[in-house]
Amino acid sequence: MMKKWFIQAFASLAMLASGIAMANEVHIDVKAPIKMTDKASLQRGAKIFVNYCLNCHSANYMRYNRLQDIGLTDKQIKDNLLFAGEKVGETMRISMNPKDAKKWFGAAPPDLSVEVRARGADWVYAYLRSFYKDDTRPTGWNNQVFDKVAMPHVLYELQGVQVLDHETHTLKLEKAGKLNPI
Ligand code: HEC
Repeated sequence: MMKKWFIQAFASLAMLASGIAMANEVHIDVKAPIKMTDKASLQRGAKIFVNYCLNCHSANYMRYNRLQDIGLTDKQIKDNLLFAGEKVGETMRISMNPKDAKKWFGAAPPDLSVEVRARGADWVYAYLRSFYKDDTRPTGWNNQVFDKVAMPHVLYELQGVQVLDHETHTLKLEKAGKLNPI
């Protein structure tokens, strides 16, 4: 069976995509609205993960064919989620060398196989919603939950651009994203 916390990661990502659309102001003490039985949502999360996260992060303890556990067939996995000639039985590795990554980003993107177990789904959900524009940072982004984070805001086209209001310590949407119109 696919580990529950890994499925929760997909759920966080999928709900993130729909959750963003609801709020112009982000509260970081949110609970990740996870529905473990919502296969369509979990599949959206898996797709977002493969498209937006797997470039930099590996999930070395996760095999692609475990995505059968969220209702995908081997063919669907192969057609929709494998881009670089991987086999469905392989683990979610990446070709980026951790040393290069450290040089490029200032910190190596950690393997995410156990991320939700380590940090909790709510933290991951809050983290992904808390990027804001910060011109003092090398990537142009900072994060309210993870100060001076080395990761850029990879979902900004969906989420839009947030700025930090230094007086109220809240994030405000400055520029609309595809899922988050102002
Ligand atoms: C361009 C490369 C890149 C992409 C793409 C990327 N990340 Fe990251 N990520 C990083 C780096 C670098 C760090 C390390 C940040 C640090 O230590 O300052 C990181 C850190 C994280 C962390 C915090 C890890 C911890 O507990 O310290 C999480 C969670 C995370 N990324 C999730 C994601 C998710 C989910 C996606 C896809 C939506 C994603 N990342 C896409 C580069 C990336």
